[in-house]
Amino acid sequence: MNPDQLILALDVSDAGVALDWVRRFNHQIGCFKIGLQLFTAQGPDFVREVRQTGAQVFLDLKLHDIPNTVAKAVEAACQLDIQYLTVHTLGGRAMLTAALAAAAPTPRTMLLGITVLTSHDNDDLDDLGFDHTAAGQALLLAKLARSAGMRGLVCSPREVTLLRQELGTDFTLVTPGVRPAGAAVNDQNRVTTPAEAIASGSSHLVIGRPILNAPDPEQVIAGILSGGG
Ligand code: C5P
Repeated sequence: MNPDQLILALDVSDAGVALDWVRRFNHQIGCFKIGLQLFTAQGPDFVREVRQTGAQVFLDLKLHDIPNTVAKAVEAACQLDIQYLTVHTLGGRAMLTAALAAAAPTPRTMLLGITVLTSHDNDDLDDLGFDHTAAGQALLLAKLARSAGMRGLVCSPREVTLLRQELGTDFTLVTPGVRPAGAAVNDQNRVTTPAEAIASGSSHLVIGRPILNAPDPEQVIAGILSGGG
């Protein structure tokens, strides 16, 4: 796979540790994901610091609130010159429309809609009162996102084929829940290998612990990029 397709989830709290990962792999990895853990610990200045290294940033804030609040948060996040920002499609049409309008002046930032968390399985959705399977719910949310004007989504690699059929080739589909063969699944449920995810039509893969916790991260990254992971 193309190095631009790999996104490393910087799921650590320490700015120095995170920056070390960025500097070490900036030339091999397309983009670095700053999620709730790192953003809460280090804030927007840290995002600026990562951008100053030249690395691309995926700011995974999974925004989900009333439309006005999300729009203001999107506006503020887009000032950080990031490449991707996540919002929950479960926030509904009005929230998605407001988020897109807020991001419109900064076309460099693409909004990605979270469909169903890859840690959720059908039993979790049942507990939450959803009538659909994870795949059915992801499809429903994908259609909603598209009709609101979204051009990118985050979904499980297991749902990529289904979503690609529905959304066509020019939609960006980003998939976490990716595990090289033999790696620990951790709290993820609906996982595939990197090669399977790319073959099914994922545009980009988000991978965290299989790289961060590896004794030899270079080797894991090389395996993923060569399609053998
Ligand atoms: O360590 P791991 O490879 O499981 O990390 C996956 C990353 O992707 C985490 O940062 C997690 O928050 C994020 N993510 C996810 N499922 C989604 C959306 C984002 O696992 N649906």
